[in-house]
Amino acid sequence: MSILSILEFPDPRLRTRAEPVTRFDPKLQQFVADLFETMYLAHGVGLAATQVNVHERVLVADMSEGRNQPLALINAQILEKDGSQVYQEGCLSFPGVYADITRALSVKVKAQDVDGKQIMVEAEGPLAVCIQHEMDHLEGKVFVDYLSPLKRSLLLKRLDKQRKQAASA
Ligand code: NI
Repeated sequence: MSILSILEFPDPRLRTRAEPVTRFDPKLQQFVADLFETMYLAHGVGLAATQVNVHERVLVADMSEGRNQPLALINAQILEKDGSQVYQEGCLSFPGVYADITRALSVKVKAQDVDGKQIMVEAEGPLAVCIQHEMDHLEGKVFVDYLSPLKRSLLLKRLDKQRKQAASA
């Protein structure tokens, strides 16, 4: 397995729209394993292929306390959305910054697993947030896109500050 490097905002490659996965082969399985390893090492709860500069519709997530409920979704599509919730989101492409974002409370998702088998996932609460956030990445969208211009510029200033602190540490 290998650790993949994560693109950070404002890298323009984060704006790429991912293509559907058509081959469910050992290479895909290896890629999914690498995504999980990279996500767990970075203490993330979700990671989309876009963030490691692979533009295919693959995302991984694990919102469990024990870090033992890996979920890999290939070619995920939201069939139904319901309700709304505000959740404080972070993103491995925006290290150290967080923002309250409003999204659907629950989602029903059709996807494929790493073997190409059709799966249905019904998620609510934090897992629903995570799936929606990662699916956005595959469309070239990031969570700060939901913020007002003022809130976004404050958050991006904080991001800059975090980076300078990390660089001087
Ligand atoms: Ni993210």
